Amino acid sequence: MSITSWYPGHMKTARREIALAIPSKDVLIEVLDARMPVASTNPALTELRGTKPCVKVLNKSDLADPEVTRAWIRRLETDATAGNVVAVAITRDRPADTRARITDLCRRLAPLRIAANKSVRVMVIGIPNVGKSTLINTLMERKVTTVADKPAVTKKQQLVTLKNGMILSDNPGILWPSMDKDAVLRLALGGALPDTAMDYETVALFAAGVLLLRYPQLLTERFKLTEVPSSPSEVLAAIARKHGCLRGGGQVDAYKAADILVHEFRAGKLGRISLEAPSDAVLAG
Ligand code: G4P
Repeated sequence: MSITSWYPGHMKTARREIALAIPSKDVLIEVLDARMPVASTNPALTELRGTKPCVKVLNKSDLADPEVTRAWIRRLETDATAGNVVAVAITRDRPADTRARITDLCRRLAPLRIAANKSVRVMVIGIPNVGKSTLINTLMERKVTTVADKPAVTKKQQLVTLKNGMILSDNPGILWPSMDKDAVLRLALGGALPDTAMDYETVALFAAGVLLLRYPQLLTERFKLTEVPSSPSEVLAAIARKHGCLRGGGQVDAYKAADILVHEFRAGKLGRISLEAPSDAVLAG
């Protein structure tokens, strides 16, 4: 599936700017969505990063399945080359903990700068809506960037000096023009793509499929269903009936049910859910 039609021009510019800036940085902080570390990894950024030391931040870990997140940390660090990648799970709800852990990891990845008593130069990268601005605000201990639940809100590169002396730059979230269909579905469900990129019903049917497969109990508990629905479309029909989303003639309004399911997922109301696990056969290769 192609997203080229709405791959915004500023993302192309940002990609160029990132490529130019990387050589002058000591450490990159790549922010990922803990619920989908694979789908939220931009291969273009991986390529640009090369062997530059990197802290992989699994953000929004409050929304992800904690056991799966622990497995991801192990997997990301095992895959790392020559110890130049570390992974950490964070959430916006524990800012002091986040500051301490990220500062410590960045310093560990830049021993020569520390030994020379020089500032560690750090750049935050990632796709839209993974929480880059929120993380920068946390590291700054004040609000310096625009945080919004709209993908690609940060548009210009900003440079800020932290209290601990680290120099931090951020970038607009960038996507890549040719994504596979599964990644598009996960990103759309998580809110990293504009809502206009995909119709809600398709996204909700995907969510329903994941829930049936991995978290059927969370589904039945949240919507007070007496039994597990037999298919994704049955999930939407059951939600529609429970919420009274009915059209004339008693027909279920699948669109309204889709809207409910997608928003409840994004808000974490269904429980802590991971859309990808390192053990998934499709991802393991
Ligand atoms: P970006 O710069 O990468 O584009 O992301 P940004 O920080 O703008 O965050 C996107 C949305 O994700 C915001 O939601 C933000 O609050 C939320 N977010 C960031 N970190 C976390 C986290 O650890 N856990 C959870 N649950 N959400 C997180 P928003 O609804 O637009 O903002 P707000 O109304 O929540 O402040």
